[in-house]
Amino acid sequence: MRIGILTSGGDCPGINATIRGVCKTAINHYGMEVVGIHSGFQGLLDDDMEAFDAENLSGLLGMGGTVLGTSRVKLFPRRSADNHSEKAARMMDTIKRRGLDCLVCIGGSGTQATAARIDQLGVNVVTIPQTIDNDIPLTDSSIGFDSAVEVATEAIDRLHSTASSHKRVMVIEVMGHEAGWLALHSGMAGGGDIVLLPELPYKMRNLGNVIIDRLKRGKPYSIVVVAEGIYTDGSTRKRAAEYIAQEIEYETGFETRETVLGYLQRGGTPTSFDRNLATLMGGYAAGLIANRQFGRMVALQGETVTSVPLVEVAEKRKLVTADHPLIVQGKRMGVCFG
Ligand code: F6P
Repeated sequence: MRIGILTSGGDCPGINATIRGVCKTAINHYGMEVVGIHSGFQGLLDDDMEAFDAENLSGLLGMGGTVLGTSRVKLFPRRSADNHSEKAARMMDTIKRRGLDCLVCIGGSGTQATAARIDQLGVNVVTIPQTIDNDIPLTDSSIGFDSAVEVATEAIDRLHSTASSHKRVMVIEVMGHEAGWLALHSGMAGGGDIVLLPELPYKMRNLGNVIIDRLKRGKPYSIVVVAEGIYTDGSTRKRAAEYIAQEIEYETGFETRETVLGYLQRGGTPTSFDRNLATLMGGYAAGLIANRQFGRMVALQGETVTSVPLVEVAEKRKLVTADHPLIVQGKRMGVCFG
């Protein structure tokens, strides 16, 4: 078997560990050939790839980013159900010319959707969920999420001292696209007083009451964690943190400052959890190929690494629900979710 591996969409810590897990298992355990495709699906359009052997794979376990590079190229017209685009034809030509028996696609929700359409063209595909957003259905965690939570939590920890020193409200914006997983997990781990998620409505009056109540209880400062995708006034072009900070200052009179954590959440070395998840998922993907089980995404369900049909994941989002244990428990401890 000759497999082509690619990484697509937003990068994060843990991708290189995943590449290592797939390739070392495929080469050493199953005797397969591996080709590393550069810049995500763009590498299939440009026939831009390199043969991988065990030597290429040293030093990858703890390295951030992706040695293959990534892109957000769209192979198929978003709205069209037709999978036969000019780009798709170029991709199929490359796959055939290179004699690739299977594609391993590592990426987020966009990658899963593209891989599902490639699968419908009759190409053998196996995917691995990787995104700091953790918004891919049917897997408890995506590679990179734990590492991003760690970065965001450490950043939130750092805000408490400056908030109390200056008697300020500190607002920090974390990534997550349209989902609130990163804000929920880091907001609770970092001791946020207010945590705003795209999935839950909020009222500025409620936020103001929480901040004033804290003042009356001798805590003239607050930490507000907001997901980048929360609802803001439709007319504004401000970032979520800037919008919320200004609204809080207007509502309470408190001096308020905002921090947008941005791409720091996508960098650095993966946590041990993400390294081991990448190793297990990468190895499982190689096993699916060896057993000729295609059209599937590797998934973590509880403690078990398994796989699910790609068609059940594509074009879908996993979003936070109000009954999540961290929300239920947070509310019991006085955390405001809006
Ligand atoms: O999907 C991962 C992510 O970091 C999102 O959380 C964020 O909204 C988006 O990528 C940023 O996209 P780009 O890297 O293209 O700026």
